[in-house]
Amino acid sequence: MAAKDRVIAGIDPGVAPSTLTDAAAQDLLERLATALGQANQDYHTADSPALSDADYDVLKRYNAALEAQFPALKRIDSPSDQVGAPVADGFGKVKHAVRMLSLSNAFDDEDVQDFDDQIRKFLGLGADAPLAYTAEPKIDGLSLSLRYENSVLIQAATRGDGETGENVTDNARTISDIPQTLTDAPDVLEVRGEVYMSHADFDALNARQTEAGGKTFANPRNAAAGSLRQLDPTITAARPLKFFAYAWGEVSTPIADQQSAAIDKLAAWGFSTNDLTQVCEGPDDLLTHYRKIEQLRAELGYDIDGVVYKVDDLALQRRLGFRSTTPRWAIAHKFPAELAWTRLESIDIQVGRTGALSPVARLQPVTVGGVVVSNATLHNEDYIKGIGGNGEVIREGRDLCVGDWVQVYRAGDVIPKIKDVDPTKRPDDAVPFVFPDVCPECGSAAIREDGDAVRRCTGGLICPAQAVEKLKHFVGRAAFDIEGLGAKQVEAFYHDPDLSVKQPADIFTLRARDADNLAKLKNRDGWGETSAKNLFDAIDDRRRIPLNRVLFSLGIRHVGESGAAILARHYGSWAAFAAAMDAASIGEGAAWDDLISIDGVGAVMAASVITTLQQPAERASIDALIAELDVQDVAAPATDSSPVAGKTVVFTGTLEKMTRAEAKARAESLGAKVSGSVSAKTDILIAGPGAGSKAKKAADLGVETIDEDAWLTLIGDA
Ligand code: IVH
Repeated sequence: MAAKDRVIAGIDPGVAPSTLTDAAAQDLLERLATALGQANQDYHTADSPALSDADYDVLKRYNAALEAQFPALKRIDSPSDQVGAPVADGFGKVKHAVRMLSLSNAFDDEDVQDFDDQIRKFLGLGADAPLAYTAEPKIDGLSLSLRYENSVLIQAATRGDGETGENVTDNARTISDIPQTLTDAPDVLEVRGEVYMSHADFDALNARQTEAGGKTFANPRNAAAGSLRQLDPTITAARPLKFFAYAWGEVSTPIADQQSAAIDKLAAWGFSTNDLTQVCEGPDDLLTHYRKIEQLRAELGYDIDGVVYKVDDLALQRRLGFRSTTPRWAIAHKFPAELAWTRLESIDIQVGRTGALSPVARLQPVTVGGVVVSNATLHNEDYIKGIGGNGEVIREGRDLCVGDWVQVYRAGDVIPKIKDVDPTKRPDDAVPFVFPDVCPECGSAAIREDGDAVRRCTGGLICPAQAVEKLKHFVGRAAFDIEGLGAKQVEAFYHDPDLSVKQPADIFTLRARDADNLAKLKNRDGWGETSAKNLFDAIDDRRRIPLNRVLFSLGIRHVGESGAAILARHYGSWAAFAAAMDAASIGEGAAWDDLISIDGVGAVMAASVITTLQQPAERASIDALIAELDVQDVAAPATDSSPVAGKTVVFTGTLEKMTRAEAKARAESLGAKVSGSVSAKTDILIAGPGAGSKAKKAADLGVETIDEDAWLTLIGDA
């Protein structure tokens, strides 16, 4: 296979993120942002995509997998945070009254079970409480929002970037599935659904196009998009577009109490609704319907790429609300990815920042879903033996040997994984993989602690692999993000005997040390007077840095970007944080209680932070760094859009009308900061029955204390 067939837009998604250096990942993320941005532009505005839908999905998921592996390198303009593309020139803009969102995805039965579990947990419903969903095909077209005022179609808009779409009213009027007027409809009604083209119409259109010497379309979705987005509506009128209604935006009066009843209502108004839409009683029922639709897929006559599940009760949908770009009450269960067999050629061990020894499968290159895969993650030593993350048997207990035939897949996330092994094809000379018990990088003992699936190098800072990975993390985008000092440079500086950047503090002494060195940075390959000076200046610029970035940059296990932000908001200053960690002991005492009472901080993270800060060598390195910095205090963010915006609130006791998760999500969506413990900074304590020490502390501190009903009244939810 030629190289171009393996690589999409110059990017090879077969390279496992776990095998990349930070520099390579950063470069890839940049190229992915460009390629996906261009593809979005083409797809949404030019209708002649250079990338197939499958390739687009592959790149998008590869981008997400890279971000998961390198959270510090996630870009501000990350394609993951973008729903679509800005509108094209030529169409008027329409600001959606209610945002048009996308759906999160489920890729297997377990994801569907998790979806149900999470909803129950959020709503405080027991496992046996009835909870109905609708299940319906996910139509592979483009979404459209139709606005009716006083029962007359006045506007049709594409999704655009979710906030603002294109005004395609004249074109939408040519689609026969779209009623121009309604009877007995609310004064304001926005109907949303999917514009698509049937297979038969698509084939006929392409045949006509070929005959007329015009361009043909790659698939029905592109044909539908290209046809809807014609500046001349007479062209759209000549294209056979169809429309399924499945949702709504702004409505002046609620149209129903259930999703299913709302769909019936849409059908009664004359919209086409999908007749495979069905109410299901729980995950088992959903999966049965999914399999039925999967069976029917080939005969439907139009493209679908999964099944969408939605909570049927609209009052529950409202309570569940939204994450940043997706509703909590719905999910798209995608049809499965392709599988392929190949040979496991070798197993390499990589040592990460926290010392984790990660096995990586090197595979004989094989095409899976249009992409050549040559590496796959093997997670940890148990996984190789046929034992899963919770000690359960996987692959019916079959282990993996070098030389085996393995089945590779690229479901959901892009990181290729091994699904199975064919024991009948195992070569005679295959030997079980012996996982090293010494670090391949520094020779220190590599041990597995009780309850940890991962074996770790105990070399700490003496392990060059760990030290370099720590430095790379330190200079990452969400950490110090020093201009001109990326993963490549810190790695080179680490190994350079004169520059000798062995730990983060050494970065900040570099200018002074370089001045004393004979072999100066400016005289090295790739450097000059200006670039060296610029680097030293960029480093100095970063001495003043907010606490959350410092905490994240330390690369403490279990402390990600959001964990660091939570700790920073709680402690406010480096001095307060360090003093608390000095005073803390794991599992007991006031400092420990305070730490784990923070929302978002569990015992595992708390213990990890204390262990790191109290480990003498580690602490010396941290203190040396802090001595070079001017760490900025962090305050709670303030907004003024709601009565509780910018306020710090604490929930205690039993909440009777919602779960903690729901209460927290609601408060945060109103701009409040939810804390787990009462302090002088607390603005409001919401105390339910059984409130104990927190209520007393609030009373002592004079903190306003209200009950759940008063809270609901305050935020307008009563
Ligand atoms: S519901 C709040 N139902 O899939 C989300 N979407 O990946 C409302 N889609 O933007 C969407 N079939 O364009 C919904 N039966 C269906 C769908 C469907 C296709 C599309 C829609 C949406 C995208 C999300």
